[in-house]
Amino acid sequence: METLHVALGSRSYPIIIGQGFLGDRSLFEQHLRARDLLVVSNTVVAPLYLESLQASLEPRRVVATILPDGESHKTLANVARILDVLVANRFGRDCAVVALGGGVVGDMAGFAAATYQRGVAFAQVPTTLLAQVDSSVGGKTGVNHPGGKNLIGAFHQPVAVMADTRTLATLPSRELRAGLAEVIKYGLICDAGFFAWLEAHIDTLLAGDAAALGHVIRRSCEIKAEIVGRDEREHGERALLNLGHTFGHAVESATRYTEWLHGEAIGAGLVMAARMSVESGHLTSEEMDRVVDLVARTGLPTHVANVSPDIALGHMRIDKKVQAGRIRLVLLRGIGRAFVTAEYAEPALHRTLAKHLG
Ligand code: NAD
Ligand code: GLY
Repeated sequence: METLHVALGSRSYPIIIGQGFLGDRSLFEQHLRARDLLVVSNTVVAPLYLESLQASLEPRRVVATILPDGESHKTLANVARILDVLVANRFGRDCAVVALGGGVVGDMAGFAAATYQRGVAFAQVPTTLLAQVDSSVGGKTGVNHPGGKNLIGAFHQPVAVMADTRTLATLPSRELRAGLAEVIKYGLICDAGFFAWLEAHIDTLLAGDAAALGHVIRRSCEIKAEIVGRDEREHGERALLNLGHTFGHAVESATRYTEWLHGEAIGAGLVMAARMSVESGHLTSEEMDRVVDLVARTGLPTHVANVSPDIALGHMRIDKKVQAGRIRLVLLRGIGRAFVTAEYAEPALHRTLAKHLG
């Protein structure tokens, strides 16, 4: 078991990474003090892990809400369902909401916790690779709007992130690959050595090797914790964590969150960010080829059919990084060297979209 820290003053919290601790009552008592607990999960994860988690939370009062599965259910209506359960059970301000599941459950449970009685405690028990390396850390919570991805939300830090890597044993391989997109992202943003390690170990990771997965979860959480610790509210550096996301979110929105997993859309988004970096003269085509190659070897798309570049561009224009009507992009000056810019030529953006979409 290993503990990392997100250093945010009075809102600091631990990220606990270990194998098989879901039934460890003393660990949950240590990190989650509330007497009244609402566990939020979904129809896929609850049958696998709810009983074990619930046993380690009792004898406290534990209520569970089971939501439908999938990105298309990351809606205000489902957050309202969580809030209804909190009200119906007369949970007070001293309760805590516990998210058991992937990023979809975590984002919604966190948003409900951010808004119930103006904010109650919240813990993340992430069960997908994507949630263990990214979404459970950093306090971004929220839901999708038909007009755009994650358009409604709040910053609300958890009191603890408890990542039991044994839960990954039941994760479908398509979901494992999707989670690796966010891992590749960290290497591209700021750690060329980690990117090279991923190139060398991608087959081991895809085979589900526990030690290799443990390494990427630790390194990813370290990088995310450091960046969030320096820029919690995304006034600057944290925007780098959106590498590939302006492109990827457009793919998700254009396909109504049904065709591609979030991580798959981000895989294609990383490739488009690399292409745009080459088109803008920041990255060599050899470096871009390394990105395309690793994304492809991970089994993620490098080209997305049936999404028109114009429609994607329309979605990009309501991205949260738009400032003064201008889409700001996260680009690469090299592997491990991401930066944010609004200085680029529109035709280069059109060429990039035309190359990888449609
Ligand atoms: P997800 O929550 O939909 O989980 C993927 C699938 O795996 C689901 O069908 C889920 O039920 C299933 N599942 C979960 N754990 C399992 C397990 N252990 N065994 C078997 N099946 C399991 O998707 P995700 O990829 O975890 O998260 C994607 C979401 O996270 C997106 O909505 C994205 O916007 C969000 N996100 C948020 C942040 C953030 O900072 N808040 C960061 C990155 C992504
Ligand atoms: N996934 C982007 C962020 O947490 O900032």
